[in-house]
Amino acid sequence: MLNLNSRLPRIGASITKHFFTRNYTSMCKAGYTRSTRNYCLQPSFQQNWFTNLYKGAMFEKHNFLSTTTSSSTAESGSEQKETISVTFVDKDGEEKLLKVPIGMSMLEAAHQNDIELEGACEGSLACSTCHVIVMDVDYYNKLDDPTDEENDMLDLAFGLTETSRLGCQVIAKPELDGVRLAIPAATRNFAVDGYVPKPH
Ligand code: FES
Repeated sequence: MLNLNSRLPRIGASITKHFFTRNYTSMCKAGYTRSTRNYCLQPSFQQNWFTNLYKGAMFEKHNFLSTTTSSSTAESGSEQKETISVTFVDKDGEEKLLKVPIGMSMLEAAHQNDIELEGACEGSLACSTCHVIVMDVDYYNKLDDPTDEENDMLDLAFGLTETSRLGCQVIAKPELDGVRLAIPAATRNFAVDGYVPKPH
């Protein structure tokens, strides 16, 4: 007598093989297609598969774009200019507090805020009309050393002091946050308009 129990698994395997081998390609119904693993695929399955694939691709794309976008946002955030506080004190002792972007010269900052600092040569180190006096020596010591060209121009500046600098050469940087700059009572501008200060 046949031992059906021992044969059942093999019968099952045989039936499975029977339905899923390439010999039965022709048994797929009209409209069905055969997968690479010899399954007959319903049209809806194919459609769903492509839809899911498309959705997956779009999800990836969206995620990629989202990442890129947030990265761009982060970059644009990091690109936002930091500012430092700078106080200009004019010849009458009047103070004006400015927020100056890092990297901007004090001459530019003054001009953008209607502060009377001449800058006759527009920062090309050919005059001394942008002369400013750093009011605190600690801040003065945080500045980069003046170049020979700046020193040459400073020698011509009216009311030169130990902490004098040319405003066009003082560039805003974080260490200068809180700096106070006095604008001398007069400037000496031989280069541009021949101004000669009165004797004092
Ligand atoms: Fe002329 Fe600064 S603007 S040297």
